[in-house]
Amino acid sequence: MKRIIRLLPALFLAVLVVAACKDKETMDPQPDPTLYERLGGINAISAVVDQFLANVVADNSINGRFAATVADPFRTQLLRNNLIDQVCAGSGGPCQYKGKTMKEAHTGMNITDAEFNALVGDLVAALDQFNVPEQEKNELLAILGPMRPDIVGQ
Ligand code: HEM
Repeated sequence: MKRIIRLLPALFLAVLVVAACKDKETMDPQPDPTLYERLGGINAISAVVDQFLANVVADNSINGRFAATVADPFRTQLLRNNLIDQVCAGSGGPCQYKGKTMKEAHTGMNITDAEFNALVGDLVAALDQFNVPEQEKNELLAILGPMRPDIVGQ
């Protein structure tokens, strides 16, 4: 009995520590996953970008714009890498976009609204081909949409 009484303070302390830890768990919940994580990280983003580029190349309404790019494997690779970095960085991933600004990249091309919409359609098709859920699809489009004024009519 005496032994139990002597152990009581230690037991009390242990209960306090466990309670404090539980409390910290509820007060410090895991942060919400970023869009990058929800999209499936770099491999999933790379696969979507590859499908997107395939859709663009097959899209007669805009593929003429990319004829010189497709003819040059180095340019194709550079565009692919820049697009992957752009989506990765824009969705909160650990990449850095090292390409030109959207204005610099598209100035002199006189891209129309219809062409911009066609390209976004090719991206949506790629996202659908990979069953990306509506929420993540809309979040990604909301990141790219504001780039329109820097791309169209430049
Ligand atoms: C949200 C829409 C768009 C995004 C995010 C985007 C993104 C990019 C990026 C990251 C580059 C590479 C920049 C660099 O070389 O440093 C690029 C280049 C280019 N973009 Fe866009 N773009 C968009 C819309 C369009 C549209 C609508 C067209 C034409 C229909 C277009 C045609 C091109 C072409 C021809 C290049 C040059 C590729 C090369 O260097 O060979 N882009 N774009």
